[in-house]
Amino acid sequence: MVLASVTCSAPVNIAVIKYWGKRDEKLILPLNSSLSGTLHQDDLKTTTTIVASESFTEDALWLNGKKEDINAVRYQNVLNAIRSRATKLTDKKHFVHIASINNFPTAAGLASSASGYCCLVFTLAQLYGVDGDISAIARMGSGSACRSMFGGFVKWEMGQKEDGSDSVAIQVQPEQHWPEMNIIVLVVNDKKKETSSTDGMQKSAATSVMMKERCAVTVPQRMKDIEEAIKNKDFETFGDITMKDSDDFHEVCATTTPPIYYLNDTSRYIINLINRYNKASGSIKCAYTFDAGPNACVYLPKDNVVEVLSLFLKHFPGQDISTYYRGPKENIAAIESYQP
Ligand code: ADP
Ligand code: DP6
Ligand code: CO
Repeated sequence: MVLASVTCSAPVNIAVIKYWGKRDEKLILPLNSSLSGTLHQDDLKTTTTIVASESFTEDALWLNGKKEDINAVRYQNVLNAIRSRATKLTDKKHFVHIASINNFPTAAGLASSASGYCCLVFTLAQLYGVDGDISAIARMGSGSACRSMFGGFVKWEMGQKEDGSDSVAIQVQPEQHWPEMNIIVLVVNDKKKETSSTDGMQKSAATSVMMKERCAVTVPQRMKDIEEAIKNKDFETFGDITMKDSDDFHEVCATTTPPIYYLNDTSRYIINLINRYNKASGSIKCAYTFDAGPNACVYLPKDNVVEVLSLFLKHFPGQDISTYYRGPKENIAAIESYQP
């Protein structure tokens, strides 16, 4: 017998100060703090339905229609963490079936693990009646997922404690603060990347000579500066830091042994195009950032969208270009349906 069924959706977030490297692999505690902007859940998003039933014989999970191994350690960690805080479904023996769909390329450097685990944890929390901060549970699924729990601009404080209790997501500015901010996503390649973020950052942390300085000096300063730029809606500084951090992150990957290359020729063409365009304009009109993949996310004020989009369309006719308005929206992770 079905005991409950919940469907929720959650958006991706796009980091402007990148998280790269862990000090604790099990709890997923980072080597540096990070900061991102959250999209709307009606743009790039994950939708997850979870059904609890007394007649299921095991827990199971399907991602984009394909059965995944629910016994994988990260799925188990979030399931156990939620179940240990459950206030509902505690008196009936049952299992859950989970079906999750991303409406954008999975594992292609567009933060599917962020919306995916945020949505999974949020949906489980509805099903099991878990209140309070669940960003630390999402973090145990995928680090970047904790930032998708909030809208607007969100930082993930690396924290100091060994148990990870202070390694949580904090909203820096709500979505209403800078509604003019837009993000254009250029899908360069929608295939699954060769090196997952998890593997890539582990190798960089172990071998890149750039990691120490980045974590100890560069990122802490940038976190302060970009928070201030966001507060003041200072796009010039915001864009400058965003592009520098993306460049440095890919430099860290390139100085990893063996080197990791997430960008391709088209990505580099976009970097060059935006740099030349900003230079010719005499100010920063738009700022690129690339996660662990070749696809570009471009932050820009709304007033520049038409001009920048036409630039991209001229250079990439027929390219999959999407523009996402990141303005006011109240709830980020949201319940779409609930049947007790
Ligand atoms: P990305 O750049 O897309 O975040 P990652 O390498 O960080 O790529 O993570 C991809 C992995 O995240 C997938 O292989 C899968 O294990 C997990 N993932 C992605 N989407 C979901 C989802 N909707 N539900 C559960 N897990 C997901
Ligand atoms: C480059 O959060 O995907 O997108 O914690 O191992 O699941 P795991 O890694 P993940 O790493 C994201 C890396 C990044 C930068 C960022 O989103 O901050
Ligand atoms: Co990811």
